[in-house]
Amino acid sequence: MKIMVIGGGGREHAIIKKIKQNKNVNEIYALPGNGGISADAKCVNIGAKDIEAIVEFAVSNLIDYAIVAPDDPLVLGAVDALEKKGIKCFGPNKAAAIIEGSKVFSKNLMKKYGIPTAEYEVFESADKALEYIENAPIPTVIKADGLALGKGVIIANTREEAREAVKGMMLEGMFGSSGSRVVIEEFLTGPEVSVLSFTDGKTVVPMVSSMDHKRAGDNDTGLNTGGMGTIAPNPCYTDEVAKECMEKIFIPTINAMNSEGRTFKGCLYFGLMITPRGPKVIEYNCRFGDPETQVVLPLLKTDLLDVMMAVTEGRLSEIKVEFEKESACCVIMASKGYPLSYQKGYEINIPEEINDKVYVAGAALKDGKLLTSGGRVLGVTAIAPTLEEAIEKSYGFVSEISFENAFYRKDIGKKALDIIKNGKE
Ligand code: AMP
Ligand code: GLY
Repeated sequence: MKIMVIGGGGREHAIIKKIKQNKNVNEIYALPGNGGISADAKCVNIGAKDIEAIVEFAVSNLIDYAIVAPDDPLVLGAVDALEKKGIKCFGPNKAAAIIEGSKVFSKNLMKKYGIPTAEYEVFESADKALEYIENAPIPTVIKADGLALGKGVIIANTREEAREAVKGMMLEGMFGSSGSRVVIEEFLTGPEVSVLSFTDGKTVVPMVSSMDHKRAGDNDTGLNTGGMGTIAPNPCYTDEVAKECMEKIFIPTINAMNSEGRTFKGCLYFGLMITPRGPKVIEYNCRFGDPETQVVLPLLKTDLLDVMMAVTEGRLSEIKVEFEKESACCVIMASKGYPLSYQKGYEINIPEEINDKVYVAGAALKDGKLLTSGGRVLGVTAIAPTLEEAIEKSYGFVSEISFENAFYRKDIGKKALDIIKNGKE
């Protein structure tokens, strides 16, 4: 089989490494991929948002199956365009991808179908939003409606910060047209859990739970990033919480999307907060999380391509999806300065024997050398029987890798370990 994976980060590398294990796979193309991914797939210089070129490439290269990984092409309708040409895909169509593409849509969906989430109001005019803020409880949470590279959420700790956020999004175009409508919502508290799931619109199969570390600095300080590391499973996601999520969130969401005529097929990501009043949805993503995928997929025992094809063909209920009972930890090695400005072009040295533990997010190949080319450069994952061992192992691998200006958090998994040891956060 000829497989095409759209995207070019650590998540896509993790998907490709897993897909490679299927013996029916002869060739894998990554569009655009990156310098590190090129060790595992043929990288083609077509951007993930260039739907026309993607479709043309798929047709002329007789691609059998396409995996659309990032949010942008999904929200733009890449799956619809590929399917129109008869190419089978993993990923939701445009109508379903709106669950991530519009926060107003997802909040209204949850309200309509009684799915637990933070209380909220939608605003289309800055005046109304500013007026509302004068009496809103503080802290308050302001969210741009559309996609904003994961940065469209501002937690305002003072009324002044809330005003600034509204003005920035609605009047100054901080997130372009994504911020022309905003959601202002109740500030929730509690540990966060990411649950990725496979769904074909009839059956929903949650994957092993995980925990992201979004802030740039140790002990959750500094700026928000795309994610500085992950662990799986997440100790806050107990069997009891999982059962409640299945009954009150996962199945109702799949049913709600069906009722709206927007059947979701692909990977549906539930960003959850375990509040004192039970689990609530913080966000939905219409795709695999990054860097959650770098801990979840290495624990998947069942063949990934088999599961994906079952999703596409609507027969997920026939497949038993199994995960290892072990723990995983992924430490992101970034360029110093990320998420703001940073230097690129430094040579990356990875010992051959740990290559299979490394997912490359931002690197380019030049004259046979791997050079840094992004903010997040590598994800380094280890698996072990316990979380403590997985953390130790992944930091061990990190210490064997070097590039100039490398920086990484030293406390990935620490919070989870404390929860395991002390029972509570
Ligand atoms: P999102 O991009 O929607 O995942 O939001 C980014 C981060 O903002 C989340 O991971 C949470 O830590 C935080 N967040 C979002 N919504 C809320 C909320 N209603 N209450 C508290 N924190 C939130
Ligand atoms: N790690 C969070 C996300 O993929 O949106």
